[in-house]
Amino acid sequence: MKRLLKGGRVIDPASRIDMLADVLIDGGKIVKLGRGISAMDAEIVDCSGKIVAPGLIDMHVHLRDPGLEAKEDIVSGTQAAAAGGFTMVACMANTRPPVDSSILVEGLRERARRDGIVRVGVIGAMTKGMEGKELAEIGDMKLAGAVAISEDGHHVTRSNLFLSGLEYAAMFNCPVITHAEDADLVSGGYMHEGTVSAVLGIPGRPSVAEDIAISRDIMLAEYAGAPIHIAHVSSKGAVEVIRAAKQRGVKVTAEATPHHLVLTDEAVYGYDTATKVNPPLRSADHVAALRAGLKDGTIDAIACDHAPHAFEEKDVEYRYAPSGFTGLETSLGVILTELYHTGEFSLMEIVDKMSQQPAKILGIAGGSLAEGAVADITVFDPEYCWTVETDKFYTRGKASPFAGKSLKGKAVLTMVEGKIVMRDGQVTA
Ligand code: DOR
Ligand code: ZN
Repeated sequence: MKRLLKGGRVIDPASRIDMLADVLIDGGKIVKLGRGISAMDAEIVDCSGKIVAPGLIDMHVHLRDPGLEAKEDIVSGTQAAAAGGFTMVACMANTRPPVDSSILVEGLRERARRDGIVRVGVIGAMTKGMEGKELAEIGDMKLAGAVAISEDGHHVTRSNLFLSGLEYAAMFNCPVITHAEDADLVSGGYMHEGTVSAVLGIPGRPSVAEDIAISRDIMLAEYAGAPIHIAHVSSKGAVEVIRAAKQRGVKVTAEATPHHLVLTDEAVYGYDTATKVNPPLRSADHVAALRAGLKDGTIDAIACDHAPHAFEEKDVEYRYAPSGFTGLETSLGVILTELYHTGEFSLMEIVDKMSQQPAKILGIAGGSLAEGAVADITVFDPEYCWTVETDKFYTRGKASPFAGKSLKGKAVLTMVEGKIVMRDGQVTA
């Protein structure tokens, strides 16, 4: 079916385009981009006042499938992605069982193709059973279509194992994503270690735990000559380490989450378990450093670490609640509200970090509105004002530190391969 996205402001970082233009889609592809396009036989989608961008990609989500479907599954997770304006997500391997073999990668890819509302990239575990003892079959998983390898959820403590994993993955051109927090230093901690943790009497996770883990991981990657991607950077020390590594030519990339870019540990006052996450929300100096890193390219991408948990799991005392919360349906709104409407970041920068950069890091197609490209497109309204109502979320994870917040900016249409999967907030697929 032919569709014509008419009259929107087209922002495509890959070609540096930022102009009022129409986009014609046919056969699941972008066939023409320019001013004043007409097509009699096409469905016209009025995009005036809206931004037309390459489909947003979130390279760090937990779909909880297989085995943890009380928290989320492929359907609910990809519905949430579509609602949030994402045309693709990459899902982490810490499921039950962990995705640590080519069979599991293949099975999950197949199911995601069948049941997923948006594209799903499958990330495989680095070690068997995610036990951190023995390498998983990284090459087999890559050949089965895994987009990356990651032990996300915790750090691979054994340096020799992590080094082998990096070397092995590099041979297969497979990105490695590290969750970098030194396990001993964060052990028994539930929030950022600082003034707020002292006031609340909650044991802390010091930022140096992240600085050390990222330093080690980068040094090993540098030694191996292998690329490495750092998940959810949250400390100012980490930003400095990554910046210095990039300057000396290490193949390191990094992502930051909306919550780490926007919230501080003061959100934990009140003991709301929807603020518990790893790495933890940190103090304002860390947030400022993170934003500076995002601005100067030290941090390449924005990813939300969508980590849904069942309501009753989160509805307990702070220390007993699992870490993580939902993010797909608030990510774009939070970023537009706090980074664009404050004048700090341009829409071009934001679209780049939410589409082109993740595609580049994963080495996949996407993040471009070039003629001939697959029609994965996100249309958003940067001026749309709305309130976060978690009971309206598509995701099963209702915990969000942004619950009740007023946001400005929202995706209004999500298109995957020319098919509209979300319109005006309603998932249509
Ligand atoms: O808070 C977190 N929750 N951080 C992670 O890295 C993992 C995630 C989860 O799987 O729940
Ligand atoms: Zn993680």
